[in-house]
Amino acid sequence: MDAVEEVKQKTDIVEIIGQYTPLTKSGKTFRGLCPFHSEKHGSFFVYPDQQRWHCFGSCAAGGDVFSFVMKKDGISFGEALKLLAEKNGIELPQNTGQEKAREKHDRLYQANQIATEYYHQLLLNSPEAQKVRNYLTKRGLNAESVENFKLGYSPNTWDSLQKHLQERGFTIEELLEAGLLIENGNKMCHDRFRNRLMFPITDIRGRIIGFGGRTLDDNIQPKYLNSPQTPLFDKSSNLYGLHLAKDSMKHEEQSVIVEGYMDVILPHQYGYKNIIASMGTAIGENHVAILKKLTKNLILALDPDSAGEAATMRSIWLENALGAEIRVALLPKGQDPDEIIIQDSSRWGKLIATAVPALDFIFEKSLTGIDLKTARGKSEAVDKLMPLVTQIKDPVRQTFYLNKLAELVRQSSKKLELLLVKNNTAQTSKTNTAKSRQAVSSHLEEYCLAIILQHPDMREHCTKLLPEYFDNSENREIYNAILSSADPSQVKTVLDNALWEHYEQLTKQTLLSHKLDMKLAETVLRMREEYIKRLAHNRADTLAVGESTQLRELFVQKEHLREQKRRQK
Ligand code: UTP
Ligand code: MN
Repeated sequence: MDAVEEVKQKTDIVEIIGQYTPLTKSGKTFRGLCPFHSEKHGSFFVYPDQQRWHCFGSCAAGGDVFSFVMKKDGISFGEALKLLAEKNGIELPQNTGQEKAREKHDRLYQANQIATEYYHQLLLNSPEAQKVRNYLTKRGLNAESVENFKLGYSPNTWDSLQKHLQERGFTIEELLEAGLLIENGNKMCHDRFRNRLMFPITDIRGRIIGFGGRTLDDNIQPKYLNSPQTPLFDKSSNLYGLHLAKDSMKHEEQSVIVEGYMDVILPHQYGYKNIIASMGTAIGENHVAILKKLTKNLILALDPDSAGEAATMRSIWLENALGAEIRVALLPKGQDPDEIIIQDSSRWGKLIATAVPALDFIFEKSLTGIDLKTARGKSEAVDKLMPLVTQIKDPVRQTFYLNKLAELVRQSSKKLELLLVKNNTAQTSKTNTAKSRQAVSSHLEEYCLAIILQHPDMREHCTKLLPEYFDNSENREIYNAILSSADPSQVKTVLDNALWEHYEQLTKQTLLSHKLDMKLAETVLRMREEYIKRLAHNRADTLAVGESTQLRELFVQKEHLREQKRRQK
């Protein structure tokens, strides 16, 4: 038995949770007021035989003892484990692996820091960079911005940076790992960034973790070359400009999210400092965790053309994850924030001040082309918008938009509410018991991890696999470690020692290699299905309309996969 399992078995979940909220026994379960939200009637349950907890109230959450302590105390898995181990007098293995990883990280930060300085000096002083200095002037950037954001120039050579850093004691392996060098087919290395305008990317503390490099020649693709995923850099948990924006985000209690590097720098230059960019990816769970601590008041600055799709389901997800309403500021067609600011900086302020709630915007977008005077138009509107309304987790806002929809189609909101309930109950008949679902989940989770760990090339089949699909905290922690290590051999080093045994077991699990990619794809679909069912179970044991639709889609995808598998036989 590994240490985590031992901690789990020896920990009395009722006792631990009982320290935060009084629990009373009823039958096999314990009940109390939810410690995560304020309520008058206890909708919080603890199941000692399963060692699990659930809130059926507004937070609709659940998990094991680790996730409870993590959530309640705002600590990491490793910290929760340590705490519970100490309580039970269990000794955990020493964390030498983590220390080594930290030392290695320090080296990579240093390499990035030196590279930034090197590129920056070249931009300021080298004759070759005159064209870049001209370009920056043309785009309206002043010297102060170049300094604040430490912009740079990577020279048009194959090895200048490599030499510069090797002379300072860095090895090729370290530079490859930092993403500063790139290996070509013949095991030869060269500088990754050549002849580009360099944007160093920092973490929230201002340490340099990676780079974006803009081409200076429009014929060269890609326009922006970014650092790959490295032990320091992960697009899914970093935001460009956060280090310089964080104070004003807190102070102004607001933040504006834009798309690109330039869109951060220019507003900043004109005094709008609460701006950050998501660097070409959607805002995800990790971003939200960071943002939440600074401000929940987010405005997405959107290009009106790309806005429709990006704003829909994603912003409802974002609002639910954030626990707050988000707004969108619609930019004039074809203009990026940097261009707007330069034309007339006060216009930026006005655009932000007139931002509308994302859902209002979604309503408007969804209804274009629908004639609400006709019966057909009305039912089309309900079909389109009802699934979105059901996704809204906040009950007050959900009612607000239900009423809004009712008014639009001139129906009583009671009637629409009935429709919502009907949609829900149609799906509830065959819900599994929590326990058997839990067993299915851990089996799926471990099978999935075993495949990814043993066949790292399979990772490309899991782009849709989110950490929250893992119900078991240990498994989720291992998946997070996989996501944060670019190199598969590093997963173990970023993992808490206590999870090593579980990790080893997964790497040794016997797998039949036949059609493994399809098996993995199917497993991911099934995990998503379990996740959706779990969400519903946590909430009230009924499925929301959007969820039923998602489950139906998943069913179709699964059938499709099976059919493919049959054909390949
Ligand atoms: P855009 O193509 O809108 O570029 O990409 P931009 O920021 O407006 O750049 P300028 O104004 O032409 O100089 C938005 C963001 O998407 C990411 C970058 O983070 C970029 O800032 N991106 C875009 C890439 O990572 N790679 C690309 O090839 C293009
Ligand atoms: Mn632009």
